[in-house]
Amino acid sequence: MSFGCPPSCPVLEHARAYAELPVGQVRRVASASSGGEEVDETRRNVLKLLVAGGAIAVGAGGLGVASLQYVGKPPIVGLSSYPKVGLLDLDGSPLTATKVMKEYNVTTPDVYTFAYPLRNEPNFLLNLAPPAGGSGGATNVVGGVGPQKSIVAFSAICQHLGCPAPAIAYYPPGTCAKSFGSLAFYLHCSCHGSTYDVTNGASNLTGPAVLPLPQVTLDWNTSDDTLSAIGVVGPPVNGHFDTLQGDYGVGATSQLQKQSPVVACFFPS
Ligand code: FES
Repeated sequence: MSFGCPPSCPVLEHARAYAELPVGQVRRVASASSGGEEVDETRRNVLKLLVAGGAIAVGAGGLGVASLQYVGKPPIVGLSSYPKVGLLDLDGSPLTATKVMKEYNVTTPDVYTFAYPLRNEPNFLLNLAPPAGGSGGATNVVGGVGPQKSIVAFSAICQHLGCPAPAIAYYPPGTCAKSFGSLAFYLHCSCHGSTYDVTNGASNLTGPAVLPLPQVTLDWNTSDDTLSAIGVVGPPVNGHFDTLQGDYGVGATSQLQKQSPVVACFFPS
C-alpha cells in the first residue's frame, strides 16, 4: 500500500504495521498468557486499526479511509484446530464411561447433546449398548468408545436443511414401525424424513439428506474413565463451510443438555 510519503514519514511509519494487515484477516490463538483462552486477534486488529486510522486521518488526512474497509467486514470467528474438550454430565460432573453405560443405553428416548467444537454446533451423545442384562442394541460400532465401543457422538444438525435437535432426534427401538433390516434404532429428522445409521458413522438410510452426519471423535481415558471430544470427521456441520469456523469455541469443557425428542415416523423412499 502506497501512502505517497517516504518510509521515513513519522506518522505513516507508525501506522504502517496496522494499515498493512490483510483485509478480513482472522487469527485466533491460545497462549499461556491468555490462560489457554482463545484471543480474537481480528477484533484486536480492528480496534488497533481504528485507533491507527484516527491518527492517520489527523496526521496525514484522508488515510482514515484505509481503515473503513475493515469496519464493513464482520470478523470471522472460529478455531484453528480441534481442541480436546472434556465432557460433563447433566449435573456438571465429569462424564465417565461408567456413568454413560449405567445411565444411557440403546433404549434411552431423551435427546442428550453437547456443543463441540463451537458453541453453535450441538452433537448427540449416544450409548448404543443394550441395558444391563438386556439384549439388542449395538457394540463395536464405527467410532465407538467405552468398554463395549458403543458410545458415539454425531452432529445434531440435519444434513438436509439444517433442522437441529430435537427436531432431529434419536429413535430407540419401537419408536416407529419402520426398521432397516435388523436395525430398529436410528437418528431421524422430523422435518423431511432423513434417517441416519448410528451404527455406521451416521450414513444415510433415507433422504432427502445425501450426506452423513459429521461424527465427533471421542476419547476414552482408561486411567480416569473420563470422556472427551477431540475432533470431528465427515462433512462439515450443516450451515458451516468449515466445522471449525462460524462461532467461538466451547472452551475446556462441554456439558450435556437434555431435551424431549420431536417424533414423526415419516420415511420417504
Ligand atoms: S432438515 Fe432434516 S430432513 Fe430436511
